[in-house]
Amino acid sequence: MKKLGVNIDHIATLRNARGEGHPNILFAAKYAFKHGANSITIHLREDRRHIKDYDLKQIANTNIPLNLELAASKDMLKIALKNKPNYICIVPEKRKEITTEGGLDLRRNTHLIKKIVKTFKNKKIRTSLFIDPNLNSIKLSKVIGTDCVELHTGKLSTLIKKKLNYLNELNKIKKCASLGKSLGLEIHAGHGLDYKTTKILSKIKEIEEFNIGHFLIGESIFNGLGNTIKKFKKLIK
Ligand code: PXP
Repeated sequence: MKKLGVNIDHIATLRNARGEGHPNILFAAKYAFKHGANSITIHLREDRRHIKDYDLKQIANTNIPLNLELAASKDMLKIALKNKPNYICIVPEKRKEITTEGGLDLRRNTHLIKKIVKTFKNKKIRTSLFIDPNLNSIKLSKVIGTDCVELHTGKLSTLIKKKLNYLNELNKIKKCASLGKSLGLEIHAGHGLDYKTTKILSKIKEIEEFNIGHFLIGESIFNGLGNTIKKFKKLIK
């Protein structure tokens, strides 16, 4: 059974627009979990543009499986170790980007990422690396010793939304999923996913988890968060 991680960053974006407490992030996490999310994903960005430190602390204090996305920095490592999420996913981070635009440059940061992964693994926290779908990144992920990789599906999603030929990109994802699985990595996918792209990707048997945020939260305006989660769960079944 494939799993759904619901990214609630953009509920925090909405809350922050008024600088008050509504919509409440802890309530959103509990609500999403109650309605079928297998885990809750949040990204504590260095500029704190959506999720704040207190959101992380509050959710980490529940028994909801929490996946924390974080940049590979000493500060973030310290914060994560203090809050002890169940899972972490290391992501690249640029201050000016609107969202996480690409996967990690593992070749440039091998040593640092290896050290961070080891630290979390020693604390029994599941580790994942957000990577572009290329075979070298899969091989390096294995060398680094991570439990999982999350394949960046942003390019595929854009091609599909623009009605362009996406078969080459889909093939890359399939090949990476297959190689990753054969090397013992757990395969996740995320970024830019909507109903259509998720349906296409759910046919790849090696993908065990999807992490979905922006579209899912946006769609909830029309259908409700619970119904939208249920619809995604049905698609990935
Ligand atoms: N996975 C990772 C690692 C991400 O950084 C993001 C974006 O924060 C997502 C999944 C979710 O992407 P989207 O909001 O486009 O669904």
